[in-house]
This record gives sequence, C-alpha cells and structure tokens, in this order.
Amino acid sequence: MCSTQQLLNKVAKSPARLTGKVTPSFYDIKIIPDIAAATFCGEETITLYLQEAVSVIVIHAAELTISKAVLRNDAGSSFISTVSFDEEKQQALISLEGSAGPGEWFLHLSFQGILNNRLRGFYRSSFRDADGSEKLIATTKFEPSDARRAFPCFDEPEFKAVFQISLLVDKGLTAISNSPINSEREMEGGKKLVSFAPSLKMSSYLVAYVVGDFSASEPVFTKSSVPIRVCCVPGKKHLTAYALKWAKFSIDFFADYFGIDYQGAKLDLIAIPDFASGAMENFGAITFRETALLLDETQATHAELMRVAEVVCHENAHMWFGDLVTMDWWNGLWLNEAFATFMAALAVQAFMPSWKFFEGFNIFKAGAMRIDGLHSSRSIEFPVESPEDARAMFDVLTYEKGCAILRMLELYIGEEVFRQGCATYMKRHACLNTETADLWNALAEAVRNAGLSIPVDELMDTWVFQQGFPLVSVERAESEGVIILRQRPFRYLDEGSTPQGLWYVPIAIRAGTSDGIIEKVFLLKQTEQRFYVGENLKWIVINADGQGFYRVSYADELAQQLLSHLSELSAPERFNLASDLWAATQAGHLTLDAYLARLRIVLSEETDSHVFALAINSIGYLRRICAAGGPEHFNDLVNLAKQLFEPALIRLGWEPKASESPQDAELRASLVSTLGSLGEKSCCQKVESLWKQYLSDRKSVSTNLLPALVETTASHGDASCYDQMLKLKESASTPQEETRFLFALSHFRHPELIERTLASSLNGQIRVQDVPQMIRSLFLNPTGGLATWNFVKAHWDKMVATIPLQGIIRLCDGITALVNPELEPELKEFFATHNIKGNEKALAQNLETLTIANRFLLREREQLGSVLAKNTR
Ligand code: BES
Ligand code: ZN
Repeated sequence: MCSTQQLLNKVAKSPARLTGKVTPSFYDIKIIPDIAAATFCGEETITLYLQEAVSVIVIHAAELTISKAVLRNDAGSSFISTVSFDEEKQQALISLEGSAGPGEWFLHLSFQGILNNRLRGFYRSSFRDADGSEKLIATTKFEPSDARRAFPCFDEPEFKAVFQISLLVDKGLTAISNSPINSEREMEGGKKLVSFAPSLKMSSYLVAYVVGDFSASEPVFTKSSVPIRVCCVPGKKHLTAYALKWAKFSIDFFADYFGIDYQGAKLDLIAIPDFASGAMENFGAITFRETALLLDETQATHAELMRVAEVVCHENAHMWFGDLVTMDWWNGLWLNEAFATFMAALAVQAFMPSWKFFEGFNIFKAGAMRIDGLHSSRSIEFPVESPEDARAMFDVLTYEKGCAILRMLELYIGEEVFRQGCATYMKRHACLNTETADLWNALAEAVRNAGLSIPVDELMDTWVFQQGFPLVSVERAESEGVIILRQRPFRYLDEGSTPQGLWYVPIAIRAGTSDGIIEKVFLLKQTEQRFYVGENLKWIVINADGQGFYRVSYADELAQQLLSHLSELSAPERFNLASDLWAATQAGHLTLDAYLARLRIVLSEETDSHVFALAINSIGYLRRICAAGGPEHFNDLVNLAKQLFEPALIRLGWEPKASESPQDAELRASLVSTLGSLGEKSCCQKVESLWKQYLSDRKSVSTNLLPALVETTASHGDASCYDQMLKLKESASTPQEETRFLFALSHFRHPELIERTLASSLNGQIRVQDVPQMIRSLFLNPTGGLATWNFVKAHWDKMVATIPLQGIIRLCDGITALVNPELEPELKEFFATHNIKGNEKALAQNLETLTIANRFLLREREQLGSVLAKNTR
C-alpha cells in the first residue's frame, strides 16, 4: 500500500493550474446584467499579493472579454496592461509594461460576458408568471470551475478571498448574493445599485448572485440568531415552510456537532426554475432546483419529503464541510461531498429517526458497489487536471462510497470519538484548505485521546486511495469452532488475472453458538485470518449491522445455516445478504437458478422495503436479459414476479393503514409499480380503477401510491392518456407533481409516443435541466431502448452543445439498459469517436456494466426458460 504522501505526489499540480505566486485576498466586484439582451458587463478590483516581481499576471477567464486592465499600488505606481487569452487553459494573460515588484497591488479590470443558457457560470433562467407571460432571471452556478465565466478570478479552491459584490439591476427586481445587503441606491434609468456586505473568506466557486422577481419567506432564526429564508418565484411562497423547518434544524444540529456556529450573517435558500444539479452550496446563498426545495407537506410522497430534507441538510452541512473548510484541489472533492452526504444522514437520522435513514442508505451504498466492482472504477481520491476532470469527480464513488466508508469508520471508532475528530479538524482548519491527511490527523488524535489504538490513517488510506473493495469469504476450519476469513478484491469480470488489493477491513460478526449469541469486532488486515467463535455454531453473520463497505461470500454450509435463521438477522443484514447473492450472480460466481432459489427463501417472510427494492431491481435486470435472450419466457418471468411480490402486497393491502410506517407505504407503491409494469393482470385492473377514482377525486388516493399509479397507467396508456398526462403536468400545483407527470411521458410504450417524447426533449418543450433524466428513463423503457439509442446517435452533437456535461454523463447511464450482445460493438464504436471530455470514465463504466449483462445473458440463455419455470413452481 502506498502512503498518502506518495499518492498526493502523484497528483502534483498540472500545468493548467495557477502558480500561486500571485494570490488574491479581496475582490470588489460590480456586475451590470442586461437580462433581456442576455449579456452583462462588470468591473472589479482585486487586491493581490505578489510573492516576487512579475511582468505577466495570469488569471482565469472564459467566454469573457476584458476591455481594460490596470495594476496599481498604494505607493502610486501603476501599469497599463495588454490582455491576451489562452483559450485552452481558460486563462487571461495580463502583460504589464514592465515588471511589478513583490508586495500588495490592486488589479482593476473591466469585462463583458454573455448570460448563457447552459446552466453554468452566469446564466439565464425563466418562468411564467400568473398571467402566463415569461419572466427572466439571471443567476449563477460556479462549481467546480465556472466562476471564470462570470468574472476574471483565481478560480481554484485554494485561493480563498473576501468578495464584495454589487449589482446594478432594474428597480423592480430582487437581488440576492452571499451576504446581506449593505445599501440600495436608486440610480437613473429605473435602476438600483444593490451593494452587499463583504463575504466570508471563501473559494471562488462559492460566490453567487441571483437577480429576478423573487419573493422570500419570513425568516426563521438559528440558535445564534442568524435569519434563514427560503426564496422562490412569485406564487410559491406557500411551499417554503417544510424546507425552512429542516434548514433551521440542520444548521443548529451542525453547530452543535462541530461546536462552531454558522459563520454567515444570513442564509438564503433559493429555488431556481432552471438548475443543472440538485442544489449548490454557495456560502449564505444556497441555490436549488425547485423540486429539491419547495414542497407541500400535505401532498408529497415519503420519497419527496426525504429528498428535500436530505438536500437541505446536505447543502447546510457544506456551510462547514466545504465552505468553511475546503479541499485544496478537486482530487480531494470527497472531503466536501462525502462528508456533506454523511452529515446530512446524521441530521436526518436525528430529526426523523423513524425514517431509518442509514437503512435506506444501503441501497445507495449498493449503487456505489455496483460501480466499484468494475475494472473501470477509480479510487475516491483521483488525479484531476482539467475542469472536465473536476466535474467528473461528482459521482457515486465520491458521494456514496465516500459516505459509506465514513459511516464504517464512525461505527468502528465510536460516534463520539468520530465527532470530536471532526470538530477538531473543523476548528483547526476554519477558513483554510485541507488535504485528506489533515482529516486523518484530527481523527487519529481523537482516537488516541479516547485511549484506543486504531491506525486511522493506514486503515482509511486503503479505502480512499485504492479502487474497489474486498470480497470477504467465510468458511469453517478443521478444528471445531474456528472460522477462516479471507479477503480478495471483488470484481464482476474476471479477465484471467487475479486482481490485487488489500484492505484494512473492520469486521463485525455475530454468531449463534451453544454459549448463546457471540459478538466480535476486529480489523482484518491480512488476506487470511482465523478466529475462534464458539462450539456448536448454529449460524454466523459477517458484516453485522450491515454498515461495512464489503461483500461476503459464505461457504455453502454457512449460507444454508444463515438462510434457515433469517429471523436472527436485522433488515440491513438481510439486505446485504440478498445484495451479495445478486452481485455474485452477476459476477458468475452463483447460477441464476441458485440465486432465485435463495431469493425465494429470503423473501418468503420478508417485510422490509429495502430488501424488496433489491429484489425488484434484480427482477428488472432479468426482464432485460429475458427481452434480449428469450422473449418467449416473459410469461414465466411475470409469474415469478407475482410469486415473489404478490404475497407482500396482499399482506399490506391496497388501502394504507393509519398506523403504517412510511417504509410500508413505499413498499406497497414499489410492489404495485413492479407488477403493474410487468402487466400482471390483477394488479393492472386495480390500478385502472384507482386511476379513474383519482381523476374524479384527487384526494381519494394516497399520495404515496400515486407515482405507481401514474407510471403503470402510462406504461399501458395510449395517445389520449398521453395528452391527459401532459395536461396534468400543465395544471400541477407543486414542483413534485409537475415532475411526476412530466416523467410519466417516458413510460409510454407505443413507438409513436416514444418518438414524441424523444422529440420534445430537444425542441425546447422540456427544460434542459430535465432532459438527461428523461432520456435516461426512455433508455430504460422496455420498448424504448433502441429508439432512444437511435435518437441519441442522430442528435449527439446537438445534445453535447445544449446539455451541461453533468447531464450528458447522467443520460449516458441509460445505455446500460441496452442488453444485447450484437449491439455492444456498435455502442463501443460510436463512443470511440463521439465521446466528450470528462465523460470518459463514466462511459467506460457504463460499457463495462453492459458487458457484464451481456455475458450474464450468454451464460444463462440456454437454461433461462427452465430456470424461470422451475422457480415459479
Ligand atoms: N456541490 C454540489 C453541487 C454540484 C454538483 C456542483 C455537481 C457541481 C457538480 C452539491 O452540494 C450537491 O452535492 N448536490 C447534489 C444533491 C445532494 C443532496 C447530493 C446534487 O446536485 O445532485
Ligand atoms: Zn454536495
């Protein structure tokens, strides 16, 4: 294993980065947007410190012109300069007439730019007001490297500075930025100059300003009396209360957790009608897509309630992890995103324990494992050079794997010790930048203070600097009561070579023996370790509590014992058991027949929604295998699904019970949408009658069931049903409802309706922000895959030109549904010549995932019919 330092050396500064010999400390920026003309101009004075004499100042700028550049200092020296651009590096080179000596200087720049429609930098968004007329908004989103599209700046996270912003805007509009308004002055021409207080010291990617017709909720106050507001376009203020409640709770929660108050003077959470991702943690002015912030608590599903809670908590956690303490460079993005994801989980768990957040997180963890079991995975820390590299870091490995290994560490060293380590880290590095080793040092200190001897850095380096994760196999040794554990890397595709890798695996076990229940925790550092459990072993579970980031393979006898003691396992343990079985099947370690036989046992008494979610996912996969390798077996598959899922639906009943848990309500909905999507008769009939009931009385159907009804109805719907969904979307009263009916369009199966949805995704009918998910969903449509692929091929250039990179990556995810060995070469060929910068790794992962499915198909095709038939008996 390499040491942290060795690996950090590997990610030494790339040539496109600034040298650090010129550093900014203060930006005084004035921006004048012309929203109607989609342009802006601006002026700024940057206070700089020159470490040594320079004749050229290099600063980031992209899609900007700079009409004037002057450098002066307090001693009265000044330089007029000429400006040239290095487009490739997105830099402006400011050449001085002479050379400026070391010390403090002021760089004055005048610049002009465009308000783009690509949802990045300074861009334009729009909405329709109550009379139906279009209103425009100008707003920013900078992370990771788009501040340079709004004003020339030192656009790397390390160059923290204070930003003082003013905006010259139409008198009737609202302007919001990171800090409170200092002054507002009326100007000629119906304009006003809004000046904001100096910001906290922060990285350029956290700057934000928003101009438009916005209204704000009444503020709520944090424990330290800072006002929090939710802002939105007019007519939506009644949807702000829910987010406000979570915003206040989470800010107070994190202030306690870290022992540091929220540092801003105010906090605004702003809903933007067009937004590339879910939300963005600009210090003091967090921006969101509307569905992630605005919600009517009485009309939302459990998943929608969780989503807003999670996003709000995640972004608020960034006010500490990310904004106050920031990674040095994008290779360490996980210090921001994994932590925000993890902290959000803690906050949600604390406010709503009944939601069992970490149990649900197992599904996301499994999503990360799906990618991390590929040859084309990457380590959590990963070299980054270009802005595209940086953007590609926002993936499941950074977020979900990162969060999962933090959770694993937290439980291993203890929650309170972990908290103390985080608090130390936060206090020590406030307003500064860090690398991963800084975190290990703070955590190691807390571990020592608690009297523990755990090698935090060695342990965690195996998870952060190494791709993949271990498969831990378990078997009995010859001598009674002794168990042998072995670790090796888990890979779906075994390409002949034995993959290398060794982890420090925190192992938790629980076992039933003649001495009762035995629990043990230890660190597996070698490839093999033996331990004594106890005589007369009845069953043993590895990864007890289910929070470790590894898979387990039980020797046959131990697996059978476990399957006959399922009631001894917690829901997350049963989830992992099923998840490990399914992964083993995809990897070809277990036959489909054996998987289905075991799944039937697991599900026979199952009540947990997450275990069912895993099973449903595997049946969806089989459906695609079946479609490509044996469509004549489809009926057997439907029968299998009916046998696996109908008993649970009957147990739950179609009518929600007053006392049921939100997980039960979700389970009902996912069982219905699975059986409904497969066209199972009795389910579809019931859906049809409930849908009629819904149309005549909107309140007569429980909201949690509604997504399943909409999806099933669309799956089997005709053109008039399509128009009906469109109308429902137009008249929707919440962002969630609008989204629900919008994405219903991707479920229609009739070829003409698929074409219609495809066309509307590029002709402006659907907002750019929603196009990636729409196309992805069309790829997954059982009759839509090929049509969608042909459409994407034909319109690739247009997509690349209009959809932000993040969205292209997301959309390409959909190709994993194109199971068909004959199509695989075509896909590879197309992307060999058509891919775009930043999408390389994700694409390689998608293609490898597809190869895995195609091999699965080739392996199982022969016996598919008999296996499905046998397992429905
Ligand atoms: N910092 C990100 C926003 C972001 C995402 C910037 C991708 C650049 C590229 C933000 O904190 C975030 O993680 N948002 C998530 C939602 C969150 C709850 C996981 C998102 O946008 O999906
Ligand atoms: Zn984040």
